[in-house]
Amino acid sequence: MKDLLTGFEMTQEQALALIALGKDLKANPAKYAQALAGKSIVTLFEKQSLRTRVTFDIGIHKLGGHAVYLDQTNGAMGSREDVKDFLANISRWADCIVARVYDHETLVEMQEYATVPVINSLCDLYHPCQAMADFMTISQNYDDVSKVKLAYIGDGNNVTHSLFIAGAILGATVTAVCPIGHSPDAQIIQQAQDIATTTGATITVTNSLEDIKGYDVVYGDTWLSMGDDTPLAEIKAKLMPYQINQELLDMTGIKHILHCQPAHRGLDITSEVMDGPASLIFDQAENRMHIQNAIMLTLIN
Ligand code: CP
Ligand code: NVA
Repeated sequence: MKDLLTGFEMTQEQALALIALGKDLKANPAKYAQALAGKSIVTLFEKQSLRTRVTFDIGIHKLGGHAVYLDQTNGAMGSREDVKDFLANISRWADCIVARVYDHETLVEMQEYATVPVINSLCDLYHPCQAMADFMTISQNYDDVSKVKLAYIGDGNNVTHSLFIAGAILGATVTAVCPIGHSPDAQIIQQAQDIATTTGATITVTNSLEDIKGYDVVYGDTWLSMGDDTPLAEIKAKLMPYQINQELLDMTGIKHILHCQPAHRGLDITSEVMDGPASLIFDQAENRMHIQNAIMLTLIN
């Protein structure tokens, strides 16, 4: 595995090893204090970020490495100079590049010209670092991830796709409950289902909340992803029945809640459950740092 662009690069063994390393990094920070000494990592953002920007920056610092942040004022990749030249330069200086871009094709082009590992920190189609942090969080609460039933609720998007991919690789049950017109990408669903046939995973899409009765974990995201300029009023009526709230927990018997954040209290999730005992949301945000450190250590070394 040289890069992490989609998550499809990982075997089950590699995904489990990343989760194990993420847990060890979290439990034994002193052991890894110099693990990236002398290494420099460029983190490039075409889009906004809180968690991703801060967890990469602080995470790299905790491993003794150096992070160089390129923000949105640099504009879209390819606008000031060719992506090819950009990566030829970066590859001479840095040991890895982490990029959050609008269009997945930009990452594909970056990978083509980079001679150092490229890590996708969110694009229109995938958010693999997020999904790996999510399954690390699940594995801290459930002994066998392959037995866990996870229900993603809301708009079928990049986060849904990455949960499908990671879940398929790890042998889990992942169901996306999405209103009509908000289904995840059909091709990515099919690719995840193809992997599922080899791992025993179950990957499904439904629009009925009845289908997730007895599930273990429910997962939410914003209804409007970055770059989606649909007016909130237009989707609110459609998505409101899919809000994560106490009524949903009572109806399904679900015990744990994940949300990648940013959360919109009163819309995609209520404050009552986000701040309640079922929420693993801030463990999940913390785990972004540990799993990303595991990913960087694995790809760079
Ligand atoms: N979950 C996540 O990626 O958050 P940011 O957009 O704030 O980085
Ligand atoms: N689906 C969201 C995830 C944010 C972390 C987006 O792409 O904006």
